[in-house]
Parts: sequence; C-alpha cells; structure tokens
Amino acid sequence: MKILSIESSCDETAAAVVEDGRNVLSSVVSTQIEKHKIFGGVVPEIASRLHTENISYVVNKALSDADCTLSEIEAIAVTHEPGLIGALLVGVNYAKGLSLASGKPLVPVHHLRSHIAANYITHKGLKPPFMCLVVSGGNTLLCKVKDYTDFEVIGKTRDDAAGEAMDKAARTLGLPYPGGVNLDKISKNGDADKYKFPHPKVDNAPYDFSFSGLKTSVINLVHNASQKGEELNAADVGASFIKAVTDSLAEKTVKAMAEYGEKTLVLAGGVSANSVLRARMEKESKKHGWQLYLPDLSLCGDNGAMVGAQGYYEYLNGTRADLSLNGRATADITEN
Ligand code: KG4
Repeated sequence: MKILSIESSCDETAAAVVEDGRNVLSSVVSTQIEKHKIFGGVVPEIASRLHTENISYVVNKALSDADCTLSEIEAIAVTHEPGLIGALLVGVNYAKGLSLASGKPLVPVHHLRSHIAANYITHKGLKPPFMCLVVSGGNTLLCKVKDYTDFEVIGKTRDDAAGEAMDKAARTLGLPYPGGVNLDKISKNGDADKYKFPHPKVDNAPYDFSFSGLKTSVINLVHNASQKGEELNAADVGASFIKAVTDSLAEKTVKAMAEYGEKTLVLAGGVSANSVLRARMEKESKKHGWQLYLPDLSLCGDNGAMVGAQGYYEYLNGTRADLSLNGRATADITEN
C-alpha cells in the first residue's frame, strides 16, 4: 500500500510516497538551511513561513515523482509531534486538508519514531525488537523498540540533546550553521585527546544523559582563550568535544545493551550521521558481538520517507486521527 507522508517539524519541508513501509517511490526535501544560516540557527517564525510557501510544491512533486495521484494513495501520514509548534502546524493542517478533500485516512506520526523507521528503509530485513540510540537535534534517548509501535524508554537526556550540544560547540568555534555537520568535518584531523571535557553522569540514573555541562565547558574554554588572546586549534577542540559526546553515548549504550541482554543496536537521528559516533559504535559492536544498523546518511536528517515508513506501521496498528489533530512541541516517544 502507498502512503503519502509529510514532514515539517523543523527546517525541512518534506514529502514522500512510500510503499509498504520499506519502498521509497519518491522523496522530496526542501531545506531551509540557507535562509537560517545568517542567524546562526533556526528561526521558528521564518521556518513556519517557509513551510507555508513550499509545502504545496513539495507534496505535489512527491506525488508526481512517484508517478502517482492522490486517488492511488491509501493514507496520509504526517509528523505531528515533537518539534517547532508553528512549523508542525503547517504540515498537520496541510495533511488534514488533503485528508478531508480526498477522504483518505490521516495517520499521525511521532517524529522520533520516524527517525528510527529510517532504518527500515535502509535495512529491508530489520525488524523489532532491538535497542535504539536516538540522537537528534532536539532529543537524545535510549529506548527498546519492542515492536514497530511499542517503545520503552531506558534513558534520556536531562537537559540538552546531543545535536544541540554539537551545534552550540560549533557556533562557539565560529562555524556556520548547521553546526554538527561542520564540526564533524573540521574535526577530522584534530587531536581528540588534546582537551579533557567532562564526562557527565546522572545520579541514580545510569542510562540518562546530560550535555549542558559539556556545552558550557567548551564555551568557557573558547571564551577564556579569547580573553587571554590565545589561539585555539578548532580541529583539536572539535575532535575532543565530539569524543566526549561519543564517549557518553557509547558508555551508556554498552551498559544498557548488557543490562537488557540486547544484541541488536540501531542508531537514529541527525547525529547518527557523525563519523566518529558511527566508527565508535562499529567498534563496540565488534567487541560485544552486536548486530549494528546505521541509517543511510541520506536518511539521517529530517525527510518525508521515514515518516512514510513509520506511518505504514502506525496505519497497520490502527492509529488514526480526525480533523481535531493538533501539533505538539513536546511528546514522549511512547505517546502517539
Ligand atoms: O534529527 P535531526 O535532523 O533533527 C531533529 O529531528 O531534531 O538532527 C539535526 C541535528 C543537528 O543538531 C545537527 O547538527 C546534527 O543533527 N548533525 C550532526 C551531524 N549531522 C547532523 N551532528 C554531528 N555530526 C554530524 N555529521
């Protein structure tokens, strides 16, 4: 069955047509990066306005690229939570309009569930159950994916997300938005042992993460150096910072995999594109005998295809929304 899927939770207006949750017939992503770059980050009001301008074109192109009309679509899936509320509402309202006009069922999809589902497109044979480390711009969590629509949170960040910390570190080093990608690039030849950043632990919560102290620590390092007129090597700072984030993510994942007796690990979210994190998880997987699944790099960031993949499983599970569907800025992965 074919699903038309829509994503507008942050700064990408995206739509796709996906067949049976695994086969991407078309995927159109209109990124707003250039528009937000001059501000050093996403400006929510601008994001909403650009979604409004672009969404009709993006959805129509997804249908025409798939050589398909709305009448051949069986359901309309849309990201409704979590994300920037004004941005989400553009996709949600567009999907509601399409559903009303066409009579096709409306399927609400949790954004983090769809990041995980990007792996179902990359790895056709991947099926739950597995452990998943979700590392995105706004969220960081370790969860057990018991079934396609059944999740148990093992640990999550108490403050900033890993992506947010990467972006802030990049910005402090004067790198352009989107920070995480550029930090990854410039850090390739840096000395990861040059600077010692804290490895935060959360009392009595062995699988919870904390990145705000780490973020403050890189800001202090850069500001102190600038006040003293000292030159810092951005590649060394970046590499050391990425190592600290990766250590934290890897240590907690290793512990959780052992504690829960899991042997399959899946990575998801924008930060799963990070080269150091991917290499580290590959190393841990070899060492511990896990099966590791990484999303294709083209599917790590926000896209409509992953919404169509998760939307299919939500549809099979009976998840439906009516015209009262609203967007939500925050929502646990267990709620949909
Ligand atoms: O999952 P995502 O597209 O957005 C949310 O759904 O939140 O993730 C975006 C985040 C940004 O913080 C971005 O800097 C980070 O993913 N990111 C990276 C890399 N590529 C994207 N962080 C580190 N290394 C990368 N290569």
